[in-house]
This record gives sequence, structure tokens and C-alpha cells, in this order.
Amino acid sequence: MSANYNNSAWFYDGLARLVYGRALINAQVYLLHQIPAKSNVLIVGGGTGWILDELSRIHPKGLSITYVEVAPAMMLLSKKRNTGENSVVFINDAIENVSLSPDFDVAITPFLFDNFTEQTLHKVFNSISALLKKNGLWLNASFQLTGKWWQRVLLKSMFVFFRLICNIEASKLPNIRECFEQDGFKLITQNNFFGDFIGAGCYKKIIAEIASMF
Ligand SMILES: C[S@@+](CC[C@H](N)C(=O)[O-])C[C@H]1O[C@@H](n2cnc3c(N)ncnc32)[C@H](O)[C@@H]1O
Repeated sequence: MSANYNNSAWFYDGLARLVYGRALINAQVYLLHQIPAKSNVLIVGGGTGWILDELSRIHPKGLSITYVEVAPAMMLLSKKRNTGENSVVFINDAIENVSLSPDFDVAITPFLFDNFTEQTLHKVFNSISALLKKNGLWLNASFQLTGKWWQRVLLKSMFVFFRLICNIEASKLPNIRECFEQDGFKLITQNNFFGDFIGAGCYKKIIAEIASMF
């Protein structure tokens, strides 16, 4: 059985705030500032949807947002968020099962990949990559290990906790950065948070011919 974040919807944000303070929010808000006006934006795995409140604070109007979240309880909370005058389509399904036009200017994956096995990562990554336009931006936030002992302790605790509660499949971080590199994405800007345990990267989808030259 795959992960089910339904069970955690009612406490997810409270727990995240308790452990990480505002770091998870700051990382995502940093990314949201990279979004150009009037973009067609795909958000995958937005959880309880607070990212919509933050996005609408930065862009009160002009965006077309497609919000894809697989957990029904998370989706229920997300639909109550403020989306300003932006147009939003909510899709309660796994992104790899959804058929969408491949014309997004921006894709956002906030802590979507950390709990995936390498196999699931590649499947989900490819389905999102295919929806992004040439020169589109991919905004990704993930946990990362940069050699500090406490990062491993915290990561292990998260995996154990979320395996018990949400049945997550992974027990180690998959190689997310490698996916971007192999698929011809160029890292435009990156910022780290919470003692470098959280990485927020803005990648650009460059055309295949150019990608192969690097
Ligand atoms: C670790 S949580 C992060 C939630 C939120 N981004 C945050 O930072 O608070 C991952 C979220 O991705 C959703 N998710 C997992 N796999 C998905 C998939 N294949 N398609 C869409 N959503 C998915 C989960 O239901 C969950 O809400």
C-alpha cells in the first residue's frame, strides 16, 4: 500500500511548526517569489494547502493554478484556503494518474519526493516534467543531508513516525538532485534553511539539445 497522508491531515501543520518553526514555510515562500506574474502554475502535494494562502499574498490575481493532492483529507482543507482572484482547479488524485495539458510555466513540489523510493520518485518526477513547458521553472523543496549528525537523527525519526502513521514507503532520501540533472534542468537559484537540512531550489527546464551539451 502507498503512503496515506489522510491520517496526518489534522495535525500535520501543527507538528511541522513544532519541529521546524517557520523553516518549512520560509523555504516555500522563498520559492514562491520566483514565480512570474500571470503564470500557469502546477502545485503537487500541497498538503493542507497553506501554500495557496502564501501564493495569493504574493500574487493576488493573474495566476492559473492547478492544485493536485492525493489525500482527500488534505484536499478538503486546501479547498478552504484563500486563493485571491487567481483561478484554481483542484484535482484530488495522484499526479501520475492525471491527464493534463503540458503547458505549465511553473511546477511546485514542496516536500513531495522525500518519502518516495527511487522507483516512485522517477515515475512521479517524469510525469511532472512532461507537463512543464520548455524554459519552465520547477520549484522544489526537500530535505537534504549536508553532513551534520542531527540531520540523520531527525530524518530517521521522521521516517519511523510517518511509516507508522501514514505508511510511507521509503527509509532513506531518494536522489532528487540527480533527477533534475539527468532530465536537463539547470539550477537557477537555491537557498538552504534550518541548518541546511532543507533545500529550496529553482530549476529551469532547458531544451534537450542544449542540455546534452553540458
Ligand atoms: C510530506 S507532505 C508535504 C505537504 C506540504 N507540501 C507541506 O509542506 O506542508 C506530501 C504531500 O504530498 C501528497 N502526495 C504524495 N504523493 C502524491 C502524488 N503522487 N500526487 C499528488 N500528491 C501526492 C501527500 O498526500 C501529502 O499531502
